[in-house]
Amino acid sequence: MSASPDRYAFDTLAVHAGQTPSPEHGAVMEPVVLSSTFAQPEPGRPLRYDYSRSGNPTRAALERCLAAIEGGTSGFAFASGSAATYTLLHTLTPGDRVICGDDVYGGTFRLLDKVCRPHGIETTFVDLGQPGALESAFDARTRLIWLETPTNPLLKVFDIRQVTELARARGVPVVVDNTFASPALQSPLELGATVVMHSTTKYVNGHSDVVGGALITRDEALAERLRFLQNAIGAVPSPFDCYLVLRGVKTLGVRMARHVASATELARRLEADRRVERVRYPGLPSHPDHALALRQMRGGGGMISLDVAGGEPAARRFLASLRVFALAESLGGVESLAEHPGIMTHASIPRERRLAIGLGDGLVRLSVGVEAVEDLWADLDQALARAAGL
Ligand SMILES: Cc1ncc(COP(=O)(O)O)c(C=O)c1O
Repeated sequence: MSASPDRYAFDTLAVHAGQTPSPEHGAVMEPVVLSSTFAQPEPGRPLRYDYSRSGNPTRAALERCLAAIEGGTSGFAFASGSAATYTLLHTLTPGDRVICGDDVYGGTFRLLDKVCRPHGIETTFVDLGQPGALESAFDARTRLIWLETPTNPLLKVFDIRQVTELARARGVPVVVDNTFASPALQSPLELGATVVMHSTTKYVNGHSDVVGGALITRDEALAERLRFLQNAIGAVPSPFDCYLVLRGVKTLGVRMARHVASATELARRLEADRRVERVRYPGLPSHPDHALALRQMRGGGGMISLDVAGGEPAARRFLASLRVFALAESLGGVESLAEHPGIMTHASIPRERRLAIGLGDGLVRLSVGVEAVEDLWADLDQALARAAGL
């Protein structure tokens, strides 16, 4: 796409941004350039690329596209969301402190607590929804705020603008993990965030066939540092994975519209069902952060968390009975998935800590796919019946 990205709407950017048909052969879809190295006309004067860890045409197309759909100026693709997170955390040095939301992806908690802490980077985990919690967590060594919204798996929604305004007053950058909402539903950079992080494994790719990650920013100085770290650390995705994510992005807007419509319908039905103790879905008026979600997001998302009546034994029966929903970790694909965070994705968080933040033993997380919604409901309905021992 040659014209300036800000002239186009999200769905147009998702299909075209960062890609121009090759002048040589006119291929409309981005070619997969697998070459690990690139011929140089003279020593030390590469044409555009020299080595695929440092830069690759297929990866560059993906990075331009991701930057455009997030409203950023620079994008960086990684071999996983965790690789993106860890590369970003290398902008910190020993003695620095991070403030992180207390309900983040278990692997992010593990990186901060088990990998960064021994290297002298400490993290304070706070409930960003508690008035005053962020203000009192700041100290002179605070160098980064890490925020995930909606949160995983409790689907709390935090006020990105409020956090970024507090942080800006103290000169501290804010990173928003936008994996759950996707760029189709939420634009953290517009709300003042410094960096958006994605596990592109999820909605951005959308087909559960790639593990990938991304960082997007408008801050040119930070982009320079990230470019250096991306090359130095080398946790980059293969050109073929970049191609797959680029292909997935094209339908992101269409997929998200369907995820939101089906999740809204299922959440309403689950909420009215007495075999379910509690439903958490930001698109439901009963959700404590519903008003904020309406303001900050362009739809409630495709994720639902529910407490199955009867605790862990009932949750286990429920999960074992599902036929259309697959019992599996991850989320954001075209297929519906269900999992038990306490036993699966969040097992790295100690049980007492899980219970303290409301992540109980009966909690089940659903990733609502794009299948026919009546088939999804029929599946949940029969599994709830089995969970209840009916
Ligand atoms: C919200 C969120 N952030 C980050 C990650 C880590 O991404 P990856 O699994 O691609 O390393 C995940 C993975 O589940 C996630 O759900």
